[in-house]
Amino acid sequence: MTSSYVPIYLGDEDLTQETRDLLSSLPSEKGWLVSQIYQFEGSWHTQGLVQGILNCQKNFKANDSDIILATTPKSGTTWLKALLFALIHRDKFPVSSKHPLLATNPHPLVPYLEADYRVSPDVDFSELPSPRLMQTHLQHHSLPVSIKNSSCKIVYCCRNPKDMFVSLWHFGKKLAPQEIADYPIEKSYWYESRKNPNKVLFVTYEELKKQTEVEVKRIANFIGCGFTAEKEVSEIVKLCSFESLSKLEVNRQGKLPNGIESNSYFRKGEIGGWRDTLSESLAEVIDRTTEEKFRGSGLKFSC
Ligand code: A3P
Repeated sequence: MTSSYVPIYLGDEDLTQETRDLLSSLPSEKGWLVSQIYQFEGSWHTQGLVQGILNCQKNFKANDSDIILATTPKSGTTWLKALLFALIHRDKFPVSSKHPLLATNPHPLVPYLEADYRVSPDVDFSELPSPRLMQTHLQHHSLPVSIKNSSCKIVYCCRNPKDMFVSLWHFGKKLAPQEIADYPIEKSYWYESRKNPNKVLFVTYEELKKQTEVEVKRIANFIGCGFTAEKEVSEIVKLCSFESLSKLEVNRQGKLPNGIESNSYFRKGEIGGWRDTLSESLAEVIDRTTEEKFRGSGLKFSC
C-alpha cells in the first residue's frame, strides 16, 4: 500500500464536465502519483492539471511588463524563483536580515500559473506588485495566447535530462514512496529563444551553477534590471544559493500551502549527481533518447 500525498493541483477531484469530455478524447496511460495521466498538447498531465491548464489558457491575461519563469519540473525552478524574486524586488528588498527569502520558501513568493488556476479558475493576480513574476511548467505552444502576444518576457531554464530524471525520481519518492516518474523534455523554448531573443531567454541549470554571477547578470539585463554594483550581484547570488536557502529553517521544516514538505525542493543541487543513482545502461538509454529528440536542434547538454 502506497502512502502518497498528492497536492490539490494534481488531484482528480471536482473536474468540470468540459474537462471530463476533453479527457475522454485524450490518449492516457497508467499514472505516477495519480491513477491515470493524459497526453494533452504533447505533454503528459494529471486530470487536475489539464483542468488548470484549460482555465489558465482561457483566463490568464498577461501584462506587457510581466516576467514568466518557464521550467521543466526539477530543472531549477526553486533557484530561479528565488533569483528572479530577489532581482525584481531588489530596490524594495535589498539583501538584508529582513529579506523575504529568509523567512519564506521561494515557491509561495512566485505563483505557479496552471496550479493556481486548477485551485480556482477566478484566481486574480492583479494585486501582485509590478512587474508581476509568475511561473509555469507549460510547453511554449501551450502558453496562454496573451503571454505570446504581449511584450512580457520569458526566462526558460532546463537541465541535463539525467540529473532532472534522478531529481524527479527522488521528489516523487517523497510524495509517493513506492512509485517512480518519467517526464517529457521540451525544446520549443530553445527554438523560440533563437527566433526571438528579446522575448525568451534560455538558461541551463549547468551554466547557472558553473558561472552563477555571469548568468545572473545576463538574466538581470534580459528582464530589464541590469546591475550597476558588483556587490549587489554577489549578495543576491549568495542569498539564493543552495547552501544558503537549504539551511534556512523555513526551507527545512514544515509544509508549503500546497501541502508539499518545504524541504522536498532542496536535495543536493549538484551537476552530474545522476552517476550515483543511474545504472550505466539506463544512462545510455536516456542519452540515446535525448540525442534522438534533440538531433538537429543545435542544443547540447553538458555532462
Ligand atoms: P537535486 O534533486 O538534483 O538536488 P525544482 O526547483 O525545479 O523543483 O528543481 C529541484 C532541484 O533543484 C533539486 O535538485 C534541488 O536540490 C535543486 N535546487 C533547489 N534550490 C537550489 C539552489 N538554490 N541552487 C541550486 N540548486 C537548487
